[in-house]
This record gives sequence, structure tokens and C-alpha cells, in this order.
Amino acid sequence: MFEKITDFKRTDMCGNLTKEDIGREVTIMGFADQVRDLGGLIFINLRDISGIIQLMFDTDNKDLCEKAAKVRSEYVLAARGVVQQRSSVNKNMKTGELEIAVSELRILDSAETPPFYIVENSDVKEELRLKYRYLDLRRPDMQRRMILRSKIAKIVRNFYDENGFLEIETPMLQKSTPEGARDYLVPSRVHNGKFYALPQSPQLYKQLLMISGMDRYYQIVKCFRDEDLRADRQPEFTQIDIEMSFVDMDDVISVNEKLLAKIFKEIKGIDVELPFLRMPYSEAMDRFGSDKPDTRFGLELKDISDDVKNCEFKVFTDVLANGGSVRAINAENLGDKLTRKKIDALGEFVKTYKAKALAWIKVNPDGIQSPIAKFLSEDEMNAILKNMNAKENDVIFIIADKDSVAYASLGALRLEIAKNYDLIDENKFNFLWVTDFPLLEFDEEENRYVAMHHPFTSPKDEDLELLDTDPGKVHAKAYDIILNGVELGGGSIRIYNSELQEKMFSVLGFSKEDAWARFGFLMEALKYGTPPHGGMAYGFDRMVMLIDGCESIRDVIAFPKVQNASELMSGAPDVVDAKQLGELGIDITKSEE
Ligand code: AMO
Ligand code: AMP
Repeated sequence: MFEKITDFKRTDMCGNLTKEDIGREVTIMGFADQVRDLGGLIFINLRDISGIIQLMFDTDNKDLCEKAAKVRSEYVLAARGVVQQRSSVNKNMKTGELEIAVSELRILDSAETPPFYIVENSDVKEELRLKYRYLDLRRPDMQRRMILRSKIAKIVRNFYDENGFLEIETPMLQKSTPEGARDYLVPSRVHNGKFYALPQSPQLYKQLLMISGMDRYYQIVKCFRDEDLRADRQPEFTQIDIEMSFVDMDDVISVNEKLLAKIFKEIKGIDVELPFLRMPYSEAMDRFGSDKPDTRFGLELKDISDDVKNCEFKVFTDVLANGGSVRAINAENLGDKLTRKKIDALGEFVKTYKAKALAWIKVNPDGIQSPIAKFLSEDEMNAILKNMNAKENDVIFIIADKDSVAYASLGALRLEIAKNYDLIDENKFNFLWVTDFPLLEFDEEENRYVAMHHPFTSPKDEDLELLDTDPGKVHAKAYDIILNGVELGGGSIRIYNSELQEKMFSVLGFSKEDAWARFGFLMEALKYGTPPHGGMAYGFDRMVMLIDGCESIRDVIAFPKVQNASELMSGAPDVVDAKQLGELGIDITKSEE
């Protein structure tokens, strides 16, 4: 069943009609949202991206009513009629005071019964939503998110344009220059046995654009990383990517916090306070156990190593002797809620962060309760309680381990407790720049230093000499922007000298030949006059997610991938023809699975 659209021209959008339109004849088009046949009257709610309006069919017009009676949910309709005041007002609808007395109806296309209702806040399983994503995207909340995404992109483009940035595209098919994650590779037909890589980010191209004298660059761009997925990680995602010439960190930060303030003002009507707070990496780790701290609540970490350094608990003293630390958080006023069972569950929780165990001290009305009390003198116990500011009904959680484990597990425990006991004010938007990152971190598996940000990040000038003597102590000119505990973006001031870049590669364990084979084009380019430059990239999907308040970036991406990196609607990835493989010179050796 389908009729022509020819003599129908849309005059209005369903959701935009107002009382001002009463008496006007309009032609509207959309999907049948809800059909009610009340015998005497037929009502159809018509939905387009702007909203919903009620169509009313009077039984006096027999032919018209017969046609309307055929309409089912999701049929595609065009209707012409006069806007009128509705007799029974629906306060839950934007156009709830209006309806259209239809004089002509076209059924442009019929529809099979959809596998789920097209309604706001669907509780349908995500797999089903993703398999029929085109139907899921008809839901008003998904449409609102796509509109939001588009609006933010527009603000971003206008902002950078007004600030002298050029939008320049960079290649999607490029040489593999690993940045940390695994590359997605694309085999070459013309050069059998050779591969392009999809960009993990446009990092090197944007630096080359600075060498080209483009001065300021931006791009809203797809990036690809073959890594394990999470709620805020997709194999292909979008960055707002920028680079600037002749700048230091303050310049990059200053432009970019203005952008964020503008987005929050225009989209949410919120005046965020500028400048944003800044915090060195070491402070973020010491206080929050994380380089992306959620500062909307307390539960801060404290180092209690000193309080227990002479205690009788061998676990603690051994950890300290091996260079680790004993750290703690105070779950204030939660003693009555944190039952033994709940505490044991938290003990299991921290094990997923490699902590060996979780010690605790509960300040009950009748005194201290703690499995480690027997190992501590009264003075030691009092020192811990004082250090942690403990009061009645508080519970102190303690982890002794190497620093990285103590930070990660207490940092996660802090978030877990805050979530479980509603300590987070969801109306707060806490922006924070984390600065002064270490340049390198030691990768125990590879037994070498790896770049914490990427290999093109500049060391701090005052630490340059340490590159030879104690590379682990070198700080980077790198910065991340954190919003409510999510890494929204990050960037750095770059190395702009070819010798320093070469040295950096050697610190990272590349031989000179290897570095030149992989990154020769960059080191060559750096020799022809390079402006000092730096920049950053935001995770655009994360930005939209945080502004919308949804929990996963899948909800703000039109066609996202699931946990195992497949796309449920199209079935990608999939096998290809033997002919295609032949042209690429590729043989598939089937794995046993
Ligand atoms: P970085 O690797 O920190 O920096 O990435 C920048 C931002 O991109 C987002 N992001 C992701 N979002 C969704 N899914 C993913 N898999 C994913 N990976 C990263 C994060 C992150 O902060 N070239 C540098 C930037 C620069 O130095 O200018 C870069 O890519 O929000
Ligand atoms: P035990 O006497 O072996 O039962 O240990 C006493 C308490 O110390 C238990 O509650 C353990 O969970 C805790 N504990 C053991 N190892 C650690 C550690 N590395 N960090 C924190 N607490 C620990």
C-alpha cells in the first residue's frame, strides 16, 4: 500500500504548530504514532522529528474514515487539514491543545508491526534496539540526542571558525604509526602485502599542518582504535581535534575552556566559572587515586603509611619496605549502612583492581571494630583515626600495596561507595584540568618505557636533563580536561625539534633505524622550520553523552558497535568473497574456534 506524494507539499512540522496556527490549513507528513478508533471518530497521532500532533477524522467523511481506519502504527502518512483547538487537552504533549481536522489523507507507505514500541525511554533490550537501530532512532529520546549532537557540532565549528582555526581534512588511509592502541588495518590491492592503517587520531597530520604554516587547525573527525570496549569507548569514535602554532599550554587551555563555557551556556543555559580548576597529576592521584578524578564528592584518599610504619602487621610493614604505601578513605557516616556483608562485598570489589585485601576500621558507638585492631597499638589506631578525621559512624577502608594498586583500587572504591550511597550531585558539572603528567610510564610486560600521552609530547623544559638519567621522573607538557570523572579530552605541547624527537624515540626503545622507518617523514619535516605548537582532542561522543546525561556513548552514536566490536544491524564485520581476498593477496588461515 503506497500512494504518491506528488500533489502534496509539506507546509509545517508536526511539533512546531502552535495556537497561532489555529484556523490555518496545513499539510504535514510523518509516521503514525498511535491510532485510536473510537467508532464515531478516528484519532491518529502523527510524529515527525519535531514532535507529535493529533489528526482527527470525522466519520461524516466516509471514504476518508475508511482510509484512516486502515492505518497502523508506523505507517507513513501525509495529511492536509485545518488546525483547530482540541476539545480534550493533553497536557503531556507540546501540541496537546491542538489537532488537525483532516480533509485529505495519503498513505505514503505501510509498515510491518515493529519489533518494539517506538516510545520514549524504551526498556527494550539494547541488542534488539541495535538490530533495528533505524526504528530505535525513531524514538523521541534518540532523535533528541541526534539533534543535540548536531547542535554541539555546529557550536564547535562556529567557535573555532571565529577564533581563526581552519577546518582541514586528514587522510583516513595512512601509514601505521601506532599511538598506543592497536591499529585497524586496510590491505592494499595495488601493493599486495602492504597495509594502510585507519587513524587512531590525526596526530601527525595536524602537526605537519603546523609545519605547513596553517597556524590553527580543527576537525571533527572519526578515529579508530582496536581496543577493548567499555561504556565510554568505541572502536570508531569521533574527536574534536585541534592544533595551534606559537602557543604554550595556557593558550591552548584558555581557548578551549571558552569553547566549553560556550557550549554549556548555549545548550544547557549554565554559566560555568572560568578559569577551570587545575590540578597536577600527582595531586589527583594522591587525593583521588585517579588521573580523572570525579570532584563532585569527597571520600578523598589519605596516605597513612607513617601512622603504621612501626606496627606489628607484617602485611603493612612489608608493603612499606618494598616501596609501596598504605592508603585509606573515610566513608563518613555510613557505618550503620555498611554491614559486615556489604563490607565483604567491597573487599571482593577491590580485588578486581588487583588489591590483595581490604582492611577496615568501623567507629561504632560502643568503640572500634576492625580486623586489624589486634595488630595496632592504641597510639597507632588513634593516629589513623586522627589522620582520617574519623567520627562515630565512620568506616575507614585501608589498602596496603604498591602505589599503582593502592591508587587504582581505592580510587574505584571511592566511586563505588559514592554511587551506592548517592553521594554524587548529578546537577553539578565539575570541570578540571589535570596537568604535569609524567612523560613516560614503565611497561612491565614490554620491559621498556612507553609514552603516557604519545611520543610527540614535549618534556617539560626543566626536566630535559632527566631524560638521560631518570626518564621516569620527567614531566610532560600534557593536560587532560576532566568533566565529572570522565576524560573528556587531552592534549599536549609537542616536540618541535627533530633531535629531541629522535631522542624521545630512543628513550622509548626504538633503534634509530626503526624510528626512521616508522616516523622518518615526521623527523624529516621537523628539520624544515617548525613553529612551536600544541593542541588537544576531545572525545566528541563523550561530550554529547555527558551533556545529555546518558550513561553510554552508544546512545549518542547513530550506529554504534557492541562489546565484541560488531555492528548488530548490518552484521559487520563479515566474510568477503574469495575474489576480493584474491585481489588483495590475502589467504585466510581459519583459526580453530
Ligand atoms: P587521546 O588518545 O587522549 O588523545 O584522545 C582524545 C580523546 O578522545 C576520546 N577517546 C575515545 N572516545 C571514545 N572511544 C574511544 N575508544 C576513545 N579513545 C579516546 C577521549 C580522549 O580524551 N592525538 C591526541 C590528542 C592530542 O594530543 O592533541 C589523542 O588522540 O575523550
Ligand atoms: P588477617 O589477620 O590475615 O585476617 O588480616 C587482617 C586484615 O587485614 C583482613 O581484614 C585483611 O583483609 C586485611 N589485609 C590483608 N592484606 C591487606 C592489604 N594488603 N591491604 C589492606 N588490608 C589487608
